[in-house]
Amino acid sequence: MCGITGYCGPRPAAKVLLEGLKRLEYRGYDSAGICVAEEEGLRLIKREGKIRRLIEKVPTNIKGNTGIGHTRWATHGRVNDLNAHPHLDCSGNIALVHNGIIENYSGLKEKLESEGHVFLSETDSEVIVHLVEKFYQGSLEEAVKEALALLKGTYGIVCMHRDHPGLLIGARNGSPLVLGVGNGEMFLASDVTAIISYTKAVVYLEDGEVVTLTAAEYKTTDLSDREIEKKVEAVSWELEEIEKGGYSFFMEKEIFEQPEAIKRGVSGRIDLEQATAHLGGLNMSNRDLLNIERVRITAAGTSYYAGMVGAYLLESVARVPCTVELASELRYRNPIVERNTLHFAVSQSGETADTLYALRELQRKGATVLGICNVVGSSIARESDGGVYIHSGPEIAVASTKAFTSQITVFYLFAMLLGRMRHLSYEAGLELAHELQAIPTRVEQILAKQKSIKELAAKYAHYKNFLFLGRGINYPVAMEGALKLKEISYIHAEGYSAAEIKHGPIALINEETPSFFLVPDDGLKEKVISNMKEVKSRGGRILAVAVEGENSLNNIADDIIEIPKLKNGLFYPFLMVVPLQLFAYYCALDLGRDVDHPRNLAKSVTVE
Ligand code: F6R
Repeated sequence: MCGITGYCGPRPAAKVLLEGLKRLEYRGYDSAGICVAEEEGLRLIKREGKIRRLIEKVPTNIKGNTGIGHTRWATHGRVNDLNAHPHLDCSGNIALVHNGIIENYSGLKEKLESEGHVFLSETDSEVIVHLVEKFYQGSLEEAVKEALALLKGTYGIVCMHRDHPGLLIGARNGSPLVLGVGNGEMFLASDVTAIISYTKAVVYLEDGEVVTLTAAEYKTTDLSDREIEKKVEAVSWELEEIEKGGYSFFMEKEIFEQPEAIKRGVSGRIDLEQATAHLGGLNMSNRDLLNIERVRITAAGTSYYAGMVGAYLLESVARVPCTVELASELRYRNPIVERNTLHFAVSQSGETADTLYALRELQRKGATVLGICNVVGSSIARESDGGVYIHSGPEIAVASTKAFTSQITVFYLFAMLLGRMRHLSYEAGLELAHELQAIPTRVEQILAKQKSIKELAAKYAHYKNFLFLGRGINYPVAMEGALKLKEISYIHAEGYSAAEIKHGPIALINEETPSFFLVPDDGLKEKVISNMKEVKSRGGRILAVAVEGENSLNNIADDIIEIPKLKNGLFYPFLMVVPLQLFAYYCALDLGRDVDHPRNLAKSVTVE
């Protein structure tokens, strides 16, 4: 949540900051602002709304080569110009941007006010800049460190001072901050997407670290001034990957990137000779893997649904008992960590606070936690004991799509690996491997139906409520379908096990509440069809995603999206989820929603 940029170098800072903010807009879009060090002093410009509104307000002749910028996802204080960042101290000499939450801000604010500081905003962030002002005696670095030592909560900050026009101080504790090392210029940002058009050499700051930088050099220390040696790492993402490239929205691009993303996730990881998978970064020996008696998966949102698919797979393919739990719940219920239990923390961004804190809680109790992440160098990727990158490329749209299919790809591989160490035969392993390799082509076949799914969405977008219903391994897919629809179109949707509706939700069925059924041709097909009939007989409209040639649905479903038939029913989640993503996308378009920036949301939820 919230995106931060900082720049120090020969270029006009405002241009670099605004470009960075545009790339970070997916992290929050309630308001935005920049502050640039001009000869006459600090120039602050901020505005409620999206970055484009801020750009309208920034004069083209703005000078200054050092500055900071921010795009906000509001937590404390309303969405307005005053609460937008950067915030200034009383003198207007110090400016600061902050991402995170300061838990003890009200006590600090009261004290600062009693000392004469005047606050202009309702934010928790403003206390930090007043603390820096209070402690400033000529060294900005020292003042920032003194201020940070008093804070409880999370922060990624960047601070600047009028009297030190070529200097920035950045610091991190719980909210990400990356340093970009250019040639005679330096960048700071919440993530690398804001930096990679300038440099691919980055330094990931860890919690408790402070970076002091000028255009020419940087120094990293901790709050007690101990210097810390940092490694400069190379970012592998290409610029084209973070641009829309001819698509109307990032979400559309990312849906269509899925065949490639799945291919990348599988690439080099399947061993056909041994009919198993190889997963590099697990940091576990075969003996360790064999000793696993149970698996527990934790995650949030879409990643949680991917985890549910993973649990189903691990139990059915590897016959290892597996549970899935929302990270936000797990953390606070004093989880029991049993020996020989392997834990997974699944997170596209690798920064989700709920998941990160659950990981820390599990590790504190002695658990081995593997990460399944997309963003290289993210907090969860770094703090986990090992893990697997999903390699789906940057996911910019707030609504997650390709991360889901790439996350489940990793679970298919892991289930294959664990299964082949146990009872799974060579032939069965080989069948799974071949089926997984064929998935990208099958997904392409579904994407080719975009036009008919668009027409279907146009027919249904005016409904106010939907049910998404699936069973078995497709039950989490139904929940993911409902989540996609509600978050980008604001149509109310619920995902349920198709069997479960008779225990309550069937009361919602009438002509105005369509049900979207997922009908694979697996062992549960007949059961799902019975559930469809229960809805039909109560006057409900029915949409279905079903396997080609499934004639038995013709008299039951009002509309059918056909998907290719698979040999192994376990792989249907890939094919079921894609039409639901497209349906949600086109419904949102039809309703004129800003698909990439849905109301009240932001990508990468770094607050609890
Ligand atoms: C839904 C969505 C969210 C995220 C959730 C976890 O489309 O994007 O539900 O899946 O916030 O995010 P990550 O995977 O980054 O931990």
